[in-house]
Amino acid sequence: MEPVRVCFVCLGNICRSPTAEGVMRSLVAREGLASRIEVESAGTAAYHVGDPPDARSTAHARRRGIALTGAGRQFVTEDFARFDYVLAMDTDNHAALSRLARSPKAVDDAPSRLHLCRDFDPQAPRGASVPDPYYGGDAGFEEVLDQCQAACEGLLAHIRQSHGL
Ligand code: 4NP
Repeated sequence: MEPVRVCFVCLGNICRSPTAEGVMRSLVAREGLASRIEVESAGTAAYHVGDPPDARSTAHARRRGIALTGAGRQFVTEDFARFDYVLAMDTDNHAALSRLARSPKAVDDAPSRLHLCRDFDPQAPRGASVPDPYYGGDAGFEEVLDQCQAACEGLLAHIRQSHGL
């Protein structure tokens, strides 16, 4: 059976989306679903294409036993055909992705593949963003991890239920 494919998307693809990717990978591996659920990340901007995840994000995640991997990649319209779930980390990136999803180059059901990441956290207010930690201090990176953890637990439960996993 085809795996379920998930892509987290922020602005730079060096802080929030690689963090969500690492958290989700870790949950998926813990539940023995690594062959059934594939996890990637991307950015709506191109500033950090090819760059590794931000060293601060990597250090904070590592303290929780979560490895951040990969290199910055820009999300392209054609990615909507590859991913069953495209998870925007904030409302600005959701708006940018929504425009791509409605372009003629996107697969017909692209808009229904796009979600706001924290909408899978039952405790988060509807429409909540994961704030950009890039220009702030340590607390921002911890908050990103907490929010990603809660959202990814909800997302995994949703995928298990919807796809019979
Ligand atoms: P991210 O954070 O979107 O969570 O990866 C950012 C990283 C870099 C920049 C902005 C946000 N930047 O402007 O370079």
